[in-house]
Amino acid sequence: MNLPSSVREQVGLAGFTTFRIGGPARWLAEPGNRDELAEALAFAGRLGVGPLILGGGSNLLVADAGVETLVIRLGPDSEFARVRRDMADPAGWRVGAAAGLPGLVGETGRAGADGLAVLAGIPGTVGGAARMNAGGADGAIGQHIVSARVMDMDGNETSLPAAELGFVYRDSRLAGRIALDFTLRLPPNGEPAEIARRIGEYRARKARSQPLDLPSAGCVFKNPSGDSAGRLLDAAGCKGWRRGGAEVSQRHANFIVNRGGASAAEVVELIRTMRDAVEQRFGVVLEPEVRIWSQTGEHHGIA
Ligand code: FAD
Ligand code: EPU
Repeated sequence: MNLPSSVREQVGLAGFTTFRIGGPARWLAEPGNRDELAEALAFAGRLGVGPLILGGGSNLLVADAGVETLVIRLGPDSEFARVRRDMADPAGWRVGAAAGLPGLVGETGRAGADGLAVLAGIPGTVGGAARMNAGGADGAIGQHIVSARVMDMDGNETSLPAAELGFVYRDSRLAGRIALDFTLRLPPNGEPAEIARRIGEYRARKARSQPLDLPSAGCVFKNPSGDSAGRLLDAAGCKGWRRGGAEVSQRHANFIVNRGGASAAEVVELIRTMRDAVEQRFGVVLEPEVRIWSQTGEHHGIA
């Protein structure tokens, strides 16, 4: 079968993830426009495989054997990464799903648009961040999103208002769809210097409490209602636990860091051990936040 121009075969995925772990994608498409995206989806249809969507790879654990399907990564230097002000609305921004989240936080802040400083220090793309409703104690990206243009896996494009995007703590109804771009509303009359100060503060706070200097996928588990997974894991004695190159961070017990050469199998084994320790000690079953790509598809279960 002929490969569409945006598709390559057997492409290593480790370098596309912040964990630096994982085998190859059987096929990787990096479409630069809607036509190429539609072509890649038609190719997946002909192969009979369900595609997986890759953003910045900062919330992903890819299996050592890689994935036997088509992975779609919207081109980072393409129309999918464009950021524009909405000419009709002083608070409005049109943001492509492949735009980098850290860049968006900086650009909107410099323009005096307020609201995204609380996301400073979070890596990834706007599409991945929206899919996960990324955020922290002081807010999440979903609360600023007014609507999204999305494509289903058959190539049909629609616009969905926020109410249909189902933003809740670290989840949304973007799962199983391809987000193309978003309309955000951000209060427009902020003072850029003051926003820059807050961005610096959030970044510094994160760097103090999280191991941002080592490869990881951020927090491994979601917080259980009313508590912190990091606190529970710490109290269960998990800090410093190690399986091969994978280690529970000494700085934050809800981070696994790749000390060099860690395999996905080692990380999964460590995740299970951490979960079991908290269940035994506190009777709380932690749910992974990190998305896991096995050979056949995406899930968040670790059995
Ligand atoms: P990916 O990891 O590439 O993908 C994540 C999920 O989104 C996958 O299911 C993928 O299929 C889907 N996806 C990606 N792009 C699209 C798209 N265009 N359309 C539909 N689905 C898509 N998260 C927080 O919430 N708060 C934090 O403070 C935080 N800190 C972090 C710190 C570090 C050091 C790291 C490594 C991660 C951290 N994270 C944090 C996790 C992560 O950054 C977020 O979940 C988010 O930004 C992931 O975006 P991504 O583009 O990397 O998504
Ligand atoms: N704590 C410990 N030991 C640890 C880690 C934390 O005792 O090893 C305690 C802290 O002292 C604090 C409490 O747990 O009293 C909460 O810790 P923190 O402020 O670090 O927040 P968190 O709940 O662990 C959440 C998000 C982070 C986000 C921060 C900042 C989740 C799962 N985690 O962490 O998001 O950066 O708030 O607001 O919601 C992510 O989702 O990947 C992520 C990193």
